[in-house]
Amino acid sequence: MDSNKWRIHNASGNKRVIVTKELPGDRWLNFLTEADCKIEICTSPDVLSSQEIKAAFGDRCDAAIGQLTEPWGDDLFAALKTAGGTAYSNYAVGFNNVDVDAATRHGIPVGNTPGVLTETTAQMAVALTFAAARRVGESERFLRDGKYRVWLPTMFLGKLLWRKTVGVIGAGRIGSAYARMMVEGHKMNLIYCNLHPNTGLENYISRYNEFLAAQSQPPVSCRRAATVEELLQEADCVSIHTILDESTHHLINAQRLALMKKNAILVNTSRGPVVDEAALVAHCQKNPDFKAGLDVFEDEPEIKLGLVDLENVVIVRHIASATIWARQGMATLAAANVAAILMGYPAWQRPDVGPFLEGDAPKAAPSILNADALGIPTFEVSI
Ligand code: DGY
Repeated sequence: MDSNKWRIHNASGNKRVIVTKELPGDRWLNFLTEADCKIEICTSPDVLSSQEIKAAFGDRCDAAIGQLTEPWGDDLFAALKTAGGTAYSNYAVGFNNVDVDAATRHGIPVGNTPGVLTETTAQMAVALTFAAARRVGESERFLRDGKYRVWLPTMFLGKLLWRKTVGVIGAGRIGSAYARMMVEGHKMNLIYCNLHPNTGLENYISRYNEFLAAQSQPPVSCRRAATVEELLQEADCVSIHTILDESTHHLINAQRLALMKKNAILVNTSRGPVVDEAALVAHCQKNPDFKAGLDVFEDEPEIKLGLVDLENVVIVRHIASATIWARQGMATLAAANVAAILMGYPAWQRPDVGPFLEGDAPKAAPSILNADALGIPTFEVSI
């Protein structure tokens, strides 16, 4: 192990935890220190190869916290198991980089970090929607290039989304938060696609309509689309919030882009490969009134040829969860997952992870994806 690349926290801890990147905040370190862990943190910003991660395990490693940029598959879980490891947590809510079945085969619980980044990520989807609709990137580049000489009534005219239709693909936690921000903030009608009806979201919007009625304002509509195609044809802006798996790979392709309104807006803060990026580039080149706002890319950090040259595309570098609150909270949840498993605690498995983020945390692992498969008991609240 290259000591220049690693720093150690709580050197006297008896259990060894490998953390493949520096994480923000301190609370996460306290969780692991209280669980008697020696925490070895990689300080290099470079993506570690599987070989480097295995070298870091050495012949004894009790647990690991890894990143969405690393391939946590059979190879790494086998090595972790051989080193005596009993827990892994991804520092992300998404886990398309993790082969959970492989971890289960090796008897290793896998944690993730849901709940803490919901509003933060939804806000970025809103920011990208309006940056694209109101041509923020284009206008800023124009200004920075010294081209702003006179205010003109016809320059940089954008699209008003007020009372238009917002489409949400994947109405889970983040998709629903985005939907509420767009519906409440901009009085938009909602059409959403989800495997199952989201009755919580639908009820929320019907109660919101009662509020609007009390203000003598017209209602908004809310409806689950039967197909993605139906949603794409109807919506003025579409935001993607699905997980990435085989069923959602290239969900948005050339044929489906062609169904969208010529001046629609497509936003992706989920995972890059959900959109066929080459098809999106071609579509944006052909349709200058179409806009896209992207936080994630198909071959991240590579970006498909032509994308950066498009004036009608706003791009940021996978920062949707990047607020101090969310990123510190993700660290807390990842560490709490690992610490709890090492301490033999049950799994929390509740939507509200708030109790882990401040005050005395429950003696439980906040989110273990394969808890049922591994027979890990669930935290019971005594009444
Ligand atoms: C996640 O958590 O899955 C995000 O993409 C990174 O914050």
